[in-house]
Amino acid sequence: MKFQKLFQRGKIGNLDIKNRIVMTSMVPAMGTANGEITDEYIRYYEERAKGGTGLIITGAASIDDETGRGGVTHSVAVTNRNHQKPMEKLARVLHKYDTKVFMQLVHPGKETHSIFNDGKAPVAPSAIMTRHGEMTHALTVEEIKAIVKKFVNGAVLVKAAGVDGVEIHGAHGYLLNEFMTPLFNKREDEYGGSFENRMRFITEVYQGIRQAVGEHYPVGVRISGDEFIEGGNTTEDGVKIAKYMEELGVDWINVTVGVQETSHFNREPASFQQGWKKNVAKSIKAAVNVPVIAVNTIKKPDFAESMLQEGVCDFIGLARGQLADPFWANKAKSGNEDEIRTCISCLVCFEELASGRHMKCSVNPKMGREAEFDHLNKNGNNQPVAVVGGGPGGMEAAVVLAKRGFDVTLFEKSEQLGGQLNYANKPPLKEKITWLMEGMIAQVKKAGVKVKLNTEATLEELKALNLVGVFVCCGSDPIRPGAIEGIFNDNVYTVPEVLSGKKVLDGKDVVVIGSGLAGLETAVYLGDKGCTLSIVEMKDAIGEGIFITVLQDVLRELEPYSPKMYPKHKLSKVTKEGVEVTDEKGEVVTIKAEAVLLAMGVKPRKEVVEMVQSNFDNVVLVGDSIKDGRIVDATRDGCTKAWVFEV
Ligand SMILES: Cc1cc2nc3c(=O)[nH]c(=O)nc-3n(C[C@H](O)[C@H](O)[C@H](O)COP(=O)(O)O)c2cc1C
Ligand code: SF4
Repeated sequence: MKFQKLFQRGKIGNLDIKNRIVMTSMVPAMGTANGEITDEYIRYYEERAKGGTGLIITGAASIDDETGRGGVTHSVAVTNRNHQKPMEKLARVLHKYDTKVFMQLVHPGKETHSIFNDGKAPVAPSAIMTRHGEMTHALTVEEIKAIVKKFVNGAVLVKAAGVDGVEIHGAHGYLLNEFMTPLFNKREDEYGGSFENRMRFITEVYQGIRQAVGEHYPVGVRISGDEFIEGGNTTEDGVKIAKYMEELGVDWINVTVGVQETSHFNREPASFQQGWKKNVAKSIKAAVNVPVIAVNTIKKPDFAESMLQEGVCDFIGLARGQLADPFWANKAKSGNEDEIRTCISCLVCFEELASGRHMKCSVNPKMGREAEFDHLNKNGNNQPVAVVGGGPGGMEAAVVLAKRGFDVTLFEKSEQLGGQLNYANKPPLKEKITWLMEGMIAQVKKAGVKVKLNTEATLEELKALNLVGVFVCCGSDPIRPGAIEGIFNDNVYTVPEVLSGKKVLDGKDVVVIGSGLAGLETAVYLGDKGCTLSIVEMKDAIGEGIFITVLQDVLRELEPYSPKMYPKHKLSKVTKEGVEVTDEKGEVVTIKAEAVLLAMGVKPRKEVVEMVQSNFDNVVLVGDSIKDGRIVDATRDGCTKAWVFEV
């Protein structure tokens, strides 16, 4: 087998695990309002168990109804007997696949809001202002002891439900971590100050749980091996914490990094490469003997294997990779790793969660709604269907239709599949987009779709196929507002022209019009090519509307090129020397530039839509053919519409 270590059996405590692949905790907002696990939640995890994952650690479950709920709406709780029954079902279902399951227990501390807790202020070691602008209540010793009991109560319920183990969440700036770090713990009593004092709370939690669940029940801890923030715990401290926890008796150490203020290090946006933080886990593994689980921005099985070979960890943590492709493990095991849908670190999943909505994944349209896709109606009977456009929406639709048994012809006018992905992967550090594209193309081929590259779907071509349906997924064209003087000058370029390499602007003075993600990422590309940059945005702020972690990431990438930023400025004219923009007071500002890059959004290719609609009866429009959208919109639309398509 190719991935020897990845598929070696492993042990955590007395528990035998079929491979080294661990789905680390990701809170799926799929609980009831009372924090009970739902069938939707179980079905979501079942998919990952079916996909070959050795161990699933559930999303963090709250142990305290008084001050411990929230952070995320519809998160799960383990506070009373009503929570036990559905946990039993979870364990039963996952065990069918020989997948083990641990429940992660958390108190969010300052990382919640009073609206989740009947108006009670968030609690913390010390009185500090939360990121949401609330003053925390500094826990009294009595209150600490009460929370210890609640952790123990939670663990007892977990064990009673037949779940295989309990993970104490001691990371990411939640309550126990807040006590462990000098950054937030300013107490002067026995719970603050020295290392031992700061560790006292988690020690009492661990010892309480151990006493209640017995010597042999797996109990472990997740720690931030480095908080990556001034005044916080460093890797050296992380090693000390891990050794201390091992001495206490934990069965595993699950290494992550960061607190919420540095969350871009633990839920990394796109610019972070596989393994960038491996030295944190490696230092911890070198210092302890209990098994170490570690996330490392892992996308590919060969990289996961290298983490085990190199001695970074004993079990690889794969979180978002499991959202993107629940069958990641089985595909790697069966030699079909080329078909893996790679997580592109776009953070749409987290953005949805943080916005109180149901989780979504850009590359896996079924994620979080698995039950809706349980039955694939294989009634295609080899009837011919055309898909016009080989972008993410088109490829997704083509694969689903082919799996349903339709005879699918996919028309792509350019020389390769991928559509906008072929541009999106051009800025620096965007190789994950290439991996996604390669995985989708492999799936298209294996599904038996007939791909016609370099082929415009003309009426003649389409008519010749005697189609029972046409999916129009032909994408969009850049917006070029004709009313603006000079917009068609030959010093004006579009994002696809530049990223495709058709137009080369290397070393030029460029003004970018529009600071959406496409504009900012293309600016990074141009900065990397030695261009001097100005960025114009008519809205109030650069990158308005982009999810904050993603925006900060791209702004960090732009920083070395020191672009001049012009928020609240509207393009009014293009000249031979650059552009004229109007500020909010109506005053005209001249920006000198050799080239003008338009990143003002895209519009559907109406001609194709109209041609198909006026000649065929059964026409399905997908993604950008209807409305400008993101990858997540295209894949979801393509998948859903192909799933329910009827002749
Ligand atoms: C949507 C989402 C929810 C998460 N929820 C939790 C959680 O409940 N507990 C936890 O310890 N980590 C949580 N994490 C962090 C992940 O376990 C993991 O450490 C992180 O995503 C990095 O690993 P990856 O690069 O494999 O995704 C969450 C991450 C995401 C993206
Ligand atoms: S939404 Fe984006 S970051 Fe989240 S799992 Fe899917 S591809 Fe990865």
